[in-house]
Amino acid sequence: MADKKSFYITTPIYYPSNRLHVGNSYTTVAADAMARFKRLTGYRVWFLTGTDEHGQKIQRQAEAAGKPTAEFVDEIVDWIKELWEELDICYDDFIRTSEPRHTEKVARMFTRFYEQGDIYKGKYEGWYCTPCEAYWTERQMDEGNCPDCGRKVELIDEEAYFFRMSRYAQALIDHIEANPEFILPPSRKNEMINNFLKPGLEDLCVSRTSFDWGIPVPFDPDHVIYVWLDALSNYITALGYGEEGSLHEVFWPADVQLIGKDILRFHTIYWPIFLMALGEPLPKTVFGHGWLMLEEGKMSKSKGNAIDPRVLAERYSSDALRYFLLREIPFGQDGIFSLESFITRINNDLANDLGNLVSRTLTMAERYFDGVLPEPTAYDERADEDLRSTALQIPDAVESEMEQMKISDALTEIWLLVRSSNKYIDDNMPWNLAKDPEKRDRLGTVIYNLIESIRFVAVIIQPFIPRTPDSIWEQIGIKDDPELQSWASLGKWGAMKPGTTVKRGDDLFPRLNMQAEIREMRGDPPVEETNVPEKEEEQEGLINLEYFQKVDLRVAKVISAESVPKSDKLLKIEVNVGEGKNRQVVAGIAKHYKPEELVDQSVLFVANLKPAKLRGVLSQGMILAATDQDGKLALSTVDQDLPPGSRVS
Ligand code: MSP
Repeated sequence: MADKKSFYITTPIYYPSNRLHVGNSYTTVAADAMARFKRLTGYRVWFLTGTDEHGQKIQRQAEAAGKPTAEFVDEIVDWIKELWEELDICYDDFIRTSEPRHTEKVARMFTRFYEQGDIYKGKYEGWYCTPCEAYWTERQMDEGNCPDCGRKVELIDEEAYFFRMSRYAQALIDHIEANPEFILPPSRKNEMINNFLKPGLEDLCVSRTSFDWGIPVPFDPDHVIYVWLDALSNYITALGYGEEGSLHEVFWPADVQLIGKDILRFHTIYWPIFLMALGEPLPKTVFGHGWLMLEEGKMSKSKGNAIDPRVLAERYSSDALRYFLLREIPFGQDGIFSLESFITRINNDLANDLGNLVSRTLTMAERYFDGVLPEPTAYDERADEDLRSTALQIPDAVESEMEQMKISDALTEIWLLVRSSNKYIDDNMPWNLAKDPEKRDRLGTVIYNLIESIRFVAVIIQPFIPRTPDSIWEQIGIKDDPELQSWASLGKWGAMKPGTTVKRGDDLFPRLNMQAEIREMRGDPPVEETNVPEKEEEQEGLINLEYFQKVDLRVAKVISAESVPKSDKLLKIEVNVGEGKNRQVVAGIAKHYKPEELVDQSVLFVANLKPAKLRGVLSQGMILAATDQDGKLALSTVDQDLPPGSRVS
């Protein structure tokens, strides 16, 4: 343990002013994946999260709720802790800024700053944004509103203590310039230097007198300490700052402080300056990630169930939600959350790619080898090398992406292996090998390679979707073998032991019906009664003619087709359905047809399907296709030339 390299990662501490939405969960899920990854790859990790409980905003919210502030905060903190449990957040410590272990240290720091002349008493006359807990000058404001959140600011006029930021400004600029890793992604660095540091730092007001929900200034208790000075200190108070033999000695400076881009200024200007004043080293990296947005704009709790992370995790599983959050927001940029994109990810990446790989492979292992892992005796260089070398290079590729905090790219790398494995099934067609007894050894090798590849995938996905590997260990018969679940076991190919009993389990991620989910989650009324088959008919699995005729089936002629950006599954297709005006549909057939192969084909088409958006692209209908159990897909067409729009019945 002692010689392990240490890794300290933090999240922002959340305001317990409201329940968190799915966007807030992003930071913590990302930090958790990072912490788990470092643990898996052999580091001694400390992962801190918590709640930022003081300040005017919280006090007002509690008043509005008609509750004593401490009680109001306790309830939300409990809710947040339950959320983290549901999302499998494996933090090592949860700091609440109301705890004495924090407040006492912050009070001592404030006194030290005062005694060393960093803080002086004065009067603040100026603007304050309570939702952001931020001071603004006239020049910084945006037409009289807060430049960060756009809301109204308040004029305050009170006696206050000030921190001499200018004392440390040059040292901070020098540090930022000399340490390109300090602010990431790099684009955010210039914003800080040019917008805030270069124009000259004004002294920062660090106490308030017009409310009392905060840490009192020890030598002047009419003042409470400014909530950001209080909150930022949590990253060291939680480590036992100032105590002999504390975790602070092991873990400070932090390796990564993960935050949303909106609070970068506090973390890359105020925080380092406070640390410099304490004579402490600065964190190695402050990483400002992008935001998860809704199609219609910013998230807010009032936008409903669809963004309540606990509702989403309960309905779709914590792994599905974690996967979506980590995969959907590319490195440092903003991403969009919509139920459509969430369900598309579940269906495509988790159910089709990963889930099918596991279920197809285990079904074949049971069918052809009675669930006993065969010996790989018939290696075929040409057919097997690709899969083997992809598997062996993925761990390094993932590690390199994670070093740069490119979590989404790390998942893309892992999915290369998932997809290569599915392709390996399609290329080697085990069902054909099974027909020829002479090819039994080869069939055994193909199945062995697939299970070994699944083991690689399961080891690497542990930090991202930690529940799924447990089910895979069980299915491939290594649930009691920690060695085979370890990162170190990925150094060579072929660690699975022939003779191991394997057994197909439940599907990892059942496929979801997009329309039904959208209806349910948006609270739309259920489908009209007449659309639903009679009870007895439903039991027999039959529908009557009238019911069938509700589906408007037509012949459609493909006019043009193109790929949908950032999707390897979807094609955007324009079809003529004999209406005078073409329709646009999105079909998940890109893996089976090239766009140019589709043009001029006459296909069967559902013309009265409710329009939906896939990957933000409007789809007005559905092209019919048949799929066999191995995933081979063929479009359904007509065997004579019929004009577009012809009815199918
Ligand atoms: N209490 C301060 C942080 C103090 S850290 C010493 C705070 N809290 S917060 O609850 O308002 O926000 C916490 C984090 O959630 C921030 O990093 C913020 O960027 C992040 N997010 C809020 N909405 C978000 C999205 N829609 N998407 C991604 N992250 C989002 O600020």
